[in-house]
Amino acid sequence: MNTIEIIRKKRDKKSLSNEEIEFLISSYTKGKIPDYQFSAFLMAAFLNGLNKTETAALTKAMLYSGKIVDLSSIKGLKVDKHSTGGVGDKTSLIIAPIAAAAGVYVPMISGRGLGHTGGTLDKLESIPGFRTDLNLNQYEKVLKKTGAVLIGQTKEIAPADKLIYSLRDVTATVEAIPLITGSIMSKKLAEGIDSLVLDVKTGNGAFMKEMEDAIDLANSLSETAKAFGKKCIAFITDMNQPLGNYIGNWLEVVESIQVLRNGKKNDLTELSLILAGAMIFLGKKSKSLEEGIEKAITILNSGKAFNKFLEIVKAQGGDISYLEDPEKYPKSNYHKQIKLMNEGYLSFVNTYEIGMAAIDLGAGRLKKEDKIDPKAGIIFNFKVGDKIRKADVIAEVFSDSKEKIKLAENRILKAVRLSNKQIKSPNLIKEIIN
Ligand code: URA
Repeated sequence: MNTIEIIRKKRDKKSLSNEEIEFLISSYTKGKIPDYQFSAFLMAAFLNGLNKTETAALTKAMLYSGKIVDLSSIKGLKVDKHSTGGVGDKTSLIIAPIAAAAGVYVPMISGRGLGHTGGTLDKLESIPGFRTDLNLNQYEKVLKKTGAVLIGQTKEIAPADKLIYSLRDVTATVEAIPLITGSIMSKKLAEGIDSLVLDVKTGNGAFMKEMEDAIDLANSLSETAKAFGKKCIAFITDMNQPLGNYIGNWLEVVESIQVLRNGKKNDLTELSLILAGAMIFLGKKSKSLEEGIEKAITILNSGKAFNKFLEIVKAQGGDISYLEDPEKYPKSNYHKQIKLMNEGYLSFVNTYEIGMAAIDLGAGRLKKEDKIDPKAGIIFNFKVGDKIRKADVIAEVFSDSKEKIKLAENRILKAVRLSNKQIKSPNLIKEIIN
């Protein structure tokens, strides 16, 4: 088969055969197609789309680029959650311990920051010592021992996604339903789960800005899950403002601790409890979604979820003393409080720009090889609908570079709008599919 011919076909809006897709994915995974050619294919697929058959072939090829983990030696249902990506979205760190404490096994394979959004792996790796690169043996061992394990794509599990994900991140080819479907489902189907909870984000900080596209993505993901015999509930949730208040890797670990240990209540807590409730329900530890949510609340309030989080972090090599005392974590060289000089109700947040401001500060990557500064980030103090008074600190930014602080400040000031009229805060859960 000829790579250039396949790229040309997609460029010219023609459908690719299963064999052509399989050839592209396996050749790229084996290093036989260079990045520049695969980037051209990604852009052609982004612009001209892939139909349902092509999307299924892509997912299958990405899934079988590695092994499918056999977790049958662990008795009990295995349930995971995956989000399509947002700003400040750290629910995985909260819900994995809640669901595990409820007796559901949570084998989680996550991603790194993608585009303007953060990634669970980068957040976890901000914890000193935490290892996300466990091999399959260690993966199974930690899951058996603690009830949850959180790792990244490996050479064994979904290796195609590991490569393609980072290439999409730097070639502006992220926001495409077939590519997102292949990426998410190849990881999820490989990890040995029985059921999956999906959090499909919509809004100005999501890859799917429009509700219609979010519904299409949710359908594409859940149809793929079902085609592979997995149960699935998809939530379409709001991403028109950061989730919670903290954005940036270590800062997001800190906010997760505030929820798990200190009972912080905000939109992050609310969404985490709903998603954890759905996992508990799919894991058959409750009779309904509502009962699952009630269970999740009880577990969170009892302190069991925080203890479970410590147990998981310890099992994956993390130094839990930083979780017990977050103050001892190294601090950024510079921080600045950003104030608004007018008054009103917060009516609009350009969440994409807030995500990009976090990247400006060093919390994400602009190039594949960029190193992340785990301390860098933003504390965004207000929610849409909140009253803001003159000189209120809308956000605080953290970085080791003064120039980066300035860049981020400019972005944040342009990203918010106030109104004289009182504004209703957006609904967090827009729709539940299944
Ligand atoms: N999350 C993923 O794992 N992949 C995507 O393409 C988008 C979000």
